This record gives sequence, C-alpha cells and structure tokens, in this order.
Amino acid sequence: MEKFVAVGSITKDHIDPSIFCVLTAKSKTPGTPLADFLIFIPRWDVALDTFRPPYFHRNAASELMGLLYGSYEGRSDSFRPGSISYETGFCPHGVSWSEYKAASEMELIPRRVHEGTLAFMFESSMPFGITEFAIKSEKRHEHEPGMWNDLRNNFIANLEEANNDLKAAGLPEVKV
Ligand SMILES: [Fe+2]
Repeated sequence: MEKFVAVGSITKDHIDPSIFCVLTAKSKTPGTPLADFLIFIPRWDVALDTFRPPYFHRNAASELMGLLYGSYEGRSDSFRPGSISYETGFCPHGVSWSEYKAASEMELIPRRVHEGTLAFMFESSMPFGITEFAIKSEKRHEHEPGMWNDLRNNFIANLEEANNDLKAAGLPEVKV
C-alpha cells in the first residue's frame, strides 16, 4: 500500500476521497460499487480555494475507517493505530468547530499531510452488521457528540450572499 500513487487536484477544490480508491468491487447496480477500498498515505495538499479537511456530509455509504499507523486528522479522540471507526449510512459527520475554523482561516500553501501515516477506508453501498463481540467489547469507544456542540451555521450567516448568487443564476431563493 505504501507503493500506491495518490493523485489529486493540483488546481482548486476538494476532491471526493474516493479518488484514493485502490480496489473496487462491483455491485449489481451500475455506478454503485459494492465496496471501495481507499487508503490515505503521505502526500502533498496543494489545492486552492477550498476547505481541505474532510467536509461535513451525510451520504448513503457505510464507512469503515481504520488506522494502521500514524495519526489521522478528521477523526477525533481515541482514534489510534489499530482502531477502526464506523459511520453508518445517512449519519451526518464532520470535523469539530475548532478544526473547521482553523482550516477556514489558514493560508492555503502547499503542505505535506498524513506524514508517517497509513489509514484505510472501506466504503459500501450496503449496511454493515456489527458483531456482538464488538458491541460488548470494553475497547469500544462511543463518539462524544459534544464535540459538535459549538458548531455554527455559516450557511445561514451568508444567506443574503447565497440568495444573491442564486437569483443571479435564475434559481429560486432559499427561505428560512
Ligand atoms: Fe464520511
């Protein structure tokens, strides 16, 4: 896996992590993989005009992420080598407010990310079952939802600007 050649944007914007796909298994539904195996290895992050950490999202995929060695930003507390984390489909997730704020205000210069790290993810269009052994394990760690308590809704704060853009594009305005 350390020999994998990661590719990404060298212009702007944040590319979906599926660009780091190493292996994929087809499902019976065209365009929807049964499972994708992705890895996150040391690489350059150079894209401009973007938010670089994993962004907030809620998608249909089940996501099982593991860390072989190193550390991985974007997962909080207790995510250490040997750990896996699981996000069930349609469950919203993203970074903490402090990580969001720091990434929103940082200078977007080329930088190395995931140095000394090998993390992986299985993404699937199917839900995963969790074994009784895992559910009852003393090593199980429940995510602390309080880490998102201070999130602010920046979309609403910029609603006027967003509506001006929508109007200019001939699209209906967002009403709150
Ligand atoms: Fe995700």
